[in-house]
Amino acid sequence: MTDQRPTVALHTYGCQMNEYDSELVGSILIGQGYTIVGNGDPAEIILLNTCAVRETANTRVYAQLGQFIAGKKTRPGTIVGVLGCIPQNLKDELLAKFPGVDFICGPDNYRDLPQLIAEARETAIPLTTVDLSEYETYDDIAPRRVPGVNAWIAIMRGCDNFCSFCVVPFTRGRERSREADGVVEETKRLAADGFKQVTLLGQNVNSYRAGETGFAELIDRVANVDGIERVRFTSPHPKDFPEHLLKVIAANPRICSQIHFPLQAASDSVLRRMNRGYTMAQFNDLVNLMRDTIPNLVLTTDIICGFPGETRDDFAETEQAVREIEFDSAFIFKYSRRENTLAARKFIDDVVEEEKSRRVTKLVQLQREISAKRNRESIGQSYRVLIEGRAKKSADQFRARTDGNKIVLFPKNDSLGVGDFCNVRITEVTPNTLLGYIS
Ligand code: 5AD
Ligand code: SF4
Repeated sequence: MTDQRPTVALHTYGCQMNEYDSELVGSILIGQGYTIVGNGDPAEIILLNTCAVRETANTRVYAQLGQFIAGKKTRPGTIVGVLGCIPQNLKDELLAKFPGVDFICGPDNYRDLPQLIAEARETAIPLTTVDLSEYETYDDIAPRRVPGVNAWIAIMRGCDNFCSFCVVPFTRGRERSREADGVVEETKRLAADGFKQVTLLGQNVNSYRAGETGFAELIDRVANVDGIERVRFTSPHPKDFPEHLLKVIAANPRICSQIHFPLQAASDSVLRRMNRGYTMAQFNDLVNLMRDTIPNLVLTTDIICGFPGETRDDFAETEQAVREIEFDSAFIFKYSRRENTLAARKFIDDVVEEEKSRRVTKLVQLQREISAKRNRESIGQSYRVLIEGRAKKSADQFRARTDGNKIVLFPKNDSLGVGDFCNVRITEVTPNTLLGYIS
């Protein structure tokens, strides 16, 4: 008998929160009798779970969306739905640009998807469901996990910080936390399914609050679930990082010694206009406290170059901070004006494109040197690593991660496999990778 269930291809763009949301979407659709197929396979329903954080993300989604819609000519009856952050922020632009879209659905409306798909199959008029909710946390839905060693868990949704450059508070709405018991139960199920690591996700994990439980208590409970060996989280916000959380991280060996700590810019006047809520001096104090409290801390960051009004002197302050702090690695972005954000309304995007590119290139180069230098400190040391799979470039090598989340490549050993731990001594490094052998 052939499988009569309608087929869905689900394409995911953007951050880990979107990866998690696609797992929720997969679960909702399978529960209603749909089959999820691989992204290269033919499907009756094509869904794009989109990201709006920068223009480059938008452009990529629009290019692929154009192709999927063009493909409807040869496969009439195919349904194309756009989910997530782009429809939530740019509903009218999206529908005007792509009349071939069958429906759009915002991040708080995934429970409506089966209904939307069913209706879209009956009508040629594009359908729209983009209502943000103050309560939706999908707490009762068990996501359909991508197999592997790590599972994402969204502990909260939305963001109330309104950093002036950022579209997330508009695409994902108000901040809301899930119940702590629900998160712990989800972790137990993951452990039972063989996952070794969980990563807790939120736009600002330090604003997590469910009744009496704050983030430090939550992560400690999650890390104490039997079978879970490593817990990570992303991201905290520098405006409210409590010392108590550092102590919890330091005291619990299952909570990884790794913090992603987005700086964004180092000039106080830029930070003020970004509405970040901290000064460079406060950021530095926190970094010092982190490094004093957590030995071997791996510290990473995000930086934006060319925010409106960022002068060469402002940028020089960012370069200086990067040089002094010596992050282990950094994601460095060109400022991208996002419709509806505070910065788009209040400031002119006045740093020209070439200058933004110049600043990004300069900072990327500087950070590469620093990353290589920090990695060189690992040479000769032995690390306990968790094997994730084979190396991309060689079937004879494993790819694994240290507690600090650094990638380690080393020759395979037949008695080990994905999900196993072993010790690796580092012999060589690049800015992004450690290389070694089992010790
Ligand atoms: N332009 C460039 N980078 C941005 N980010 C968020 N919004 C923008 C924007 N408008 C970056 C920030 C954030 C990361 C997830 O994306 O650095 O920390
Ligand atoms: Fe955007 Fe700031 Fe919220 Fe992060 S904390 S999602 S950068 S508004």
